[in-house]
Amino acid sequence: MTEPAFPLDPGKLPRHVAIIMDGNGRWAQRRGLLRVRGHVAGVESVRTVTRLARKLGISYLTLFAFSEENWQRPGLEIRALMALLRRYLHRELSEMQENQIALQAIGNLSQLPEEVQRDLAQTIAATADGARMVLTLALSYGGRSEIIQAVKALAREIAAGRLQPEDIDAALFSRYLYTAGMPDPDLLIRTSGEYRLSNFLLWQSAYTELYVTETLWPDFREDDFMKALEAYQQRERRFGLTQEQIEDQATNGPRH
Ligand code: FPP
Repeated sequence: MTEPAFPLDPGKLPRHVAIIMDGNGRWAQRRGLLRVRGHVAGVESVRTVTRLARKLGISYLTLFAFSEENWQRPGLEIRALMALLRRYLHRELSEMQENQIALQAIGNLSQLPEEVQRDLAQTIAATADGARMVLTLALSYGGRSEIIQAVKALAREIAAGRLQPEDIDAALFSRYLYTAGMPDPDLLIRTSGEYRLSNFLLWQSAYTELYVTETLWPDFREDDFMKALEAYQQRERRFGLTQEQIEDQATNGPRH
């Protein structure tokens, strides 16, 4: 790994990094390989990025591994992705446990094949004690569906008289999302050059810093991740406030 252009500031690392891992198909096609080979290579990037995130002390890493829309892909590719996911879960379990990484999954998980659901549940249970990093796989995930299921759950609470419409605010709403209890992502990385959110973490990304790289996901390794983190550290995050207010908060704290 080459040295970064300037050293990372450990005090300014993102707490939560989310990644849209795009470009596996193109990576394979450019080499005259089947698309599935791109996904196989993509798993190596998942391993590399997870290790580095853990080493740097990033607390939450969320990876978009399979979208709701991905169900429309050819059956062969879907089956290959599910098989890869299962193999990944089996192979990574001991490393996750050794490194105190807790696995989580978000999305419409009931759509996944039963054996995938079972393997996921087992890995989640077997890593639940991991206190150093939460690795979340978004599977059969869609941001709009996530918001709709939250609205339905809230509507049921109101219909049952357990909640008043006036009780709903952003903090309460967040508790009905798949990501309940997780901080919003500070940094969202997208590989392979597309400037879209593609229905990923729509609510949670309201103030997230976006970083797009031309690098295809199977080529995204330590150097690329470090570059994204350096870019993040150079950003000025204001959350809608003025620069003066930000400086004032840094000196006197948020409420004074
Ligand atoms: C996008 O590339 C990537 C996916 C749809 C799946 C991502 C999956 C992996 C990286 C491997 C499995 C993951 C785990 C966690 C084991 P694309 O196929 O849309 O690429 P393209 O846009 O070039 O066609």
